[in-house]
Amino acid sequence: MSAAKSQIPLINDRQDSTVAISNMTPRNIQSRINALDWPRILASLHESGWARTGEVLTAQECDGLRALYSNDNLFRSRVVMARHRFGLGEYKYFAYPLPRLVADLRKSLYAQLAAVANDWESKLGGKSHYPETHQEFIKLCHTGGQTRPTPLMLRYESGGYNCLHQDLYGAVYFPLQTVFMLDRPELDFIGGEFVLVEQRPRAQSAAHVISPRQGEAVIFTTRWRPVQGSRGHYRVNIRHGVSTVTRGIRHTLGIVYHDAE
Ligand SMILES: [Fe+2]
Repeated sequence: MSAAKSQIPLINDRQDSTVAISNMTPRNIQSRINALDWPRILASLHESGWARTGEVLTAQECDGLRALYSNDNLFRSRVVMARHRFGLGEYKYFAYPLPRLVADLRKSLYAQLAAVANDWESKLGGKSHYPETHQEFIKLCHTGGQTRPTPLMLRYESGGYNCLHQDLYGAVYFPLQTVFMLDRPELDFIGGEFVLVEQRPRAQSAAHVISPRQGEAVIFTTRWRPVQGSRGHYRVNIRHGVSTVTRGIRHTLGIVYHDAE
């Protein structure tokens, strides 16, 4: 961290929202998602395997989501990452029924991303077909015995980090996932960049370091992205993680589209 950065005071001027966002009806999530710059997002996904969305959630919605973290009634399990050597921090998987805002984001984003998933599948000669709606896709998960919800909230305190990994929970998986930043980089926390590492075949790995703004999401490949080669497309494996949070506390909302075994 630079000397200049270390002098930035962390502003703690927010009070956690007491609004029970789990019961709140979020306004226009579907129209907000549909109004994103999809030509740019899709081009970025095809080019790089990831894309920033621009702002989706308001600061109030981020505050409300962050406040859910302490309500254990909303979650089916809590994972302390150090116990599994996943990193340092913790996360909690939501239970069904999901908070309305989370459910609406999952459904609306899936509808935009299913075509990308099918395009990638056909480029790589796969046999999976991703239905147009999340409701239909989740039926496929449930038929395959994957019935546990996977949307989650993650929390890192100073010193926290997440090792490179992929979020696969069974044979059925959706090839893209999404993470929403709920805090303000440089104000609420320092460090804690989102990191993607591409394991390029017969070459050294390449890293992408991304700092989404509060309320913004990063959409990224769950497992691999197709890359055009001289004899058709091939798979490039990509893992993701979080660099060390050097100050403050960082919360995110992860939207995984497949359910878990
Ligand atoms: Fe993850």
